[in-house]
Amino acid sequence: MRQFSLNKLTFLVTCFRFVYGRPSSYLGKRITNSSDILNSYDYVIVGGGLSGLVVANRLSEDAGTTVLVIEAGPFDENEPWITIPLLSSGNIPSLGSGPRGSKYDWNLTGISQPELGNRSVKTPAGKVIGGGTVLNGEVFNRGSKNDYDRWEELGNPGWDFDSFFPYMTKAENFTPPSAEIAVWDIEYNPQYHGEKGHVHSSYPRFIWPSSENFLESMRELEIPYIKDSMGGDAAGAFWFLQSLNPDDESRSTSQGFLVPRSNLHVLTGNIATKILFDAGVATGVEFSEGEGLERNSVSVSKEVILSAGALHTPQILQLSGIGDAGFLSSLGIDVVEDLPGVGENYQDHLLLFTGQAVRVNVAVSSANFTNATWSNEMLELYETSREGPFTTVGGNFFAFLPLSTFSNATTFISEASAQEPAQFLLSNTDPSIISGYSAQHALLTKELSSNSAANLEFILGDTSIIPGLQKPFSRGRVSINSTSPFAGPVINPRYLSNPLDISSLVAGFKFARTIRNSSALQDIDVVETYPGTAVVQTDDQIEEFIREGVDTLHHHGGTASMLPRELGGVVDSSLRVYGVKGLRVVDASIVPMLPAAHFQATIYGVAEKVCLFIWYKRRFN
Ligand SMILES: Cc1cc2nc3c(=O)[nH]c(=O)nc-3n(C[C@H](O)[C@H](O)[C@H](O)COP(=O)(O)OP(=O)(O)OC[C@H]3O[C@@H](n4cnc5c(N)ncnc54)[C@H](O)[C@@H]3O)c2cc1C
Ligand SMILES: *[C@@H]1O[C@H](CO)[C@@H](O)[C@H](O)[C@H]1NC(C)=O
Ligand SMILES: *[C@@H]1O[C@H](CO)[C@@H](O)[C@H](O)[C@H]1NC(C)=O
Ligand SMILES: *[C@@H]1O[C@H](CO)[C@@H](O)[C@H](O)[C@H]1NC(C)=O
Ligand SMILES: *[C@@H]1O[C@H](CO)[C@@H](O)[C@H](O)[C@H]1NC(C)=O
Ligand SMILES: *[C@@H]1O[C@H](CO)[C@@H](O)[C@H](O)[C@H]1NC(C)=O
Ligand SMILES: *[C@@H]1O[C@H](CO)[C@@H](O)[C@H](O)[C@H]1NC(C)=O
Ligand SMILES: *[C@@H]1O[C@H](CO)[C@@H](O)[C@H](O)[C@H]1NC(C)=O
Ligand SMILES: *[C@@H]1O[C@H](CO)[C@@H](O)[C@H](O)[C@H]1NC(C)=O
Repeated sequence: MRQFSLNKLTFLVTCFRFVYGRPSSYLGKRITNSSDILNSYDYVIVGGGLSGLVVANRLSEDAGTTVLVIEAGPFDENEPWITIPLLSSGNIPSLGSGPRGSKYDWNLTGISQPELGNRSVKTPAGKVIGGGTVLNGEVFNRGSKNDYDRWEELGNPGWDFDSFFPYMTKAENFTPPSAEIAVWDIEYNPQYHGEKGHVHSSYPRFIWPSSENFLESMRELEIPYIKDSMGGDAAGAFWFLQSLNPDDESRSTSQGFLVPRSNLHVLTGNIATKILFDAGVATGVEFSEGEGLERNSVSVSKEVILSAGALHTPQILQLSGIGDAGFLSSLGIDVVEDLPGVGENYQDHLLLFTGQAVRVNVAVSSANFTNATWSNEMLELYETSREGPFTTVGGNFFAFLPLSTFSNATTFISEASAQEPAQFLLSNTDPSIISGYSAQHALLTKELSSNSAANLEFILGDTSIIPGLQKPFSRGRVSINSTSPFAGPVINPRYLSNPLDISSLVAGFKFARTIRNSSALQDIDVVETYPGTAVVQTDDQIEEFIREGVDTLHHHGGTASMLPRELGGVVDSSLRVYGVKGLRVVDASIVPMLPAAHFQATIYGVAEKVCLFIWYKRRFN
């Protein structure tokens, strides 16, 4: 298993020695005492995470519009384990888990999973201004054109790639590769990037020596090399960007959207407990500092924007009376709108860790972090000049591969075509959700033969190759189990409930061995250490290893899907909640099918795009 001998304390002590130039707090109206807010705002945004802050920024551009953000967590304090990429990404476990499991994490865990030998999987989620962008691994990439075109095909006009793309770039502030890494010929296309947004995207000032071997191994395996994967052609191998501020090589979060404005108020440390309705119109939000404490409320004159993330948004909807009527009634909740799709269609990407050692001919690898002397030298280098491996998140290079690259797609297609989709959903699933899943199932099946959309990613690093499932056929559910807003949501991810997902990962596991076996990696004597070629050989053994090993890739989505209502949708293509007025959902919940990419760059685009609808309404309605 993973063995880490490093003295963590040495690092943390070293880290706390310095503080540097990241703006430490929001300079606008920052409120910790709820008695200091106005009685009413034009817009109240629930959740100051990735999406909530983007929307807050755009809505408050108009000085005459008042906006309140209600966030459960606090502002962070620029702790080194948040700002320093390598420490904070949690990707080198020997250096600690960064903000995950800290006071900025909701510490949620899913329920026991039968397909995972009854294991429960932890699902970290940011409880802090910036939400997931304060906890995440800083990978900043986008899916292929087809990943977004599917959204439109499911009945959402305006969400095909070409229409959506400008909003993804709008959020971005891109910086080309620096002189230090220019020797690597990292190429980019300026048309694929924005430069005026508030989340930085840049390449770290360090390339791991083994990246050259990975690059070469991809050539050997005839995998296309993509010069810039950010423009809709993302099936192949590429250097990946980080959400990284190039001025000081620190984490860039959605906090960058929080520009100081007197009409933008931010209330921290308060949990939204309920959206208030009057005759089907959202009129306010109820909130509280915690269980057993006073409940307060604020009125809203235009809209409530729900941006609590894919794990909490369905919880708040259900607590507010929006969800499956029968289910809500069974809990004694008054039904505002019967919307069975709330909490359904949950999807996540899954990763499978496989370990390796690099044994010769490489100056340094991430395995050297077990040498505390070296690690401290590298941290010192980061402190003094913002260079070296601490600017990275542990690797530089990915491969996002179509099924046909690593397996026989024909076999998958016949298996998928033979499936009756309803059989892979929970038995008490509403017919509209079955219809929605069937439509998605058809698209997923069609895509199995595509050469331009990825089925698995391969995260390529010195000490691991990690296949990651990108196109899950499995669907789970997030719901409440209590009328208390302080009880966590019940997360049932139903990982691997469709066996096609296992089949993809089995093929991916084998392909990781093929990559390792390339002569470019054999040149540096890469050897599998976990699980080990002697230990896991047959397909049955691989499958067992997968069930014991898979973990979340942290890309939860779908729980308030943007889909036609008859397909189990919760929001329309302007992200308005069906059946009520004055309420939108703007966060990862609305994504009807996950793109083959880490999630943040896409969600930034979703949040930017919704602002267009809101502006339109304000002007013309
Ligand atoms: C550990 C981790 C690693 C990740 N790594 C990557 C990565 O490397 N690359 C990538 O692209 N993506 C990554 N992601 C995913 C990405 O960060 C998320 O998809 C993204 O943050 C989702 O944005 P959101 O707006 O939907 O929700 P969030 O950013 O989670 O924001 C939701 C906010 O709502 C608040 N909230 C919730 N309930 C309430 C309530 N009742 N009242 C008030 N406030 C509430 C939360 O505290 C939070 O601040 C990672 C995520 C995690 C957790
Ligand atoms: C919040 O403000 C009110 C009114 O000014 C005051 O009575 C109360 O003590 C304050 N609460 C805290 C926790 O400071
Ligand atoms: C999460 O768990 C950690 C460790 O137990 C704890 O320190 C932290 O306060 C918890 N986070 C929250 C938001 O409660
Ligand atoms: C998982 O739990 C179920 C129900 O409790 C039980 O029947 C089953 O044997 C368990 N499976 C494993 C692998 O422990
Ligand atoms: C890094 O590890 C390799 C392999 O163990 C070793 O040869 C090399 O000397 C190490 N470098 C440092 C700086 O520790
Ligand atoms: C550990 O790192 C130091 C500093 O780079 C180096 O001098 C030393 O040889 C390394 N030790 C080992 C065992 O590689
Ligand atoms: C893929 O599998 C099918 C049968 O499932 C077989 O006919 C075909 O030859 C295989 N293709 C390759 C390239 O192995
Ligand atoms: C749901 O609530 C019931 C009753 O309180 C409890 O028995 C059950 O364990 C809960 N389930 C989950 C998954 O929390
Ligand atoms: C690894 O490469 C060798 C030599 O090219 C080959 O014989 C062997 O089958 C390969 N193994 C795998 C798992 O690809």
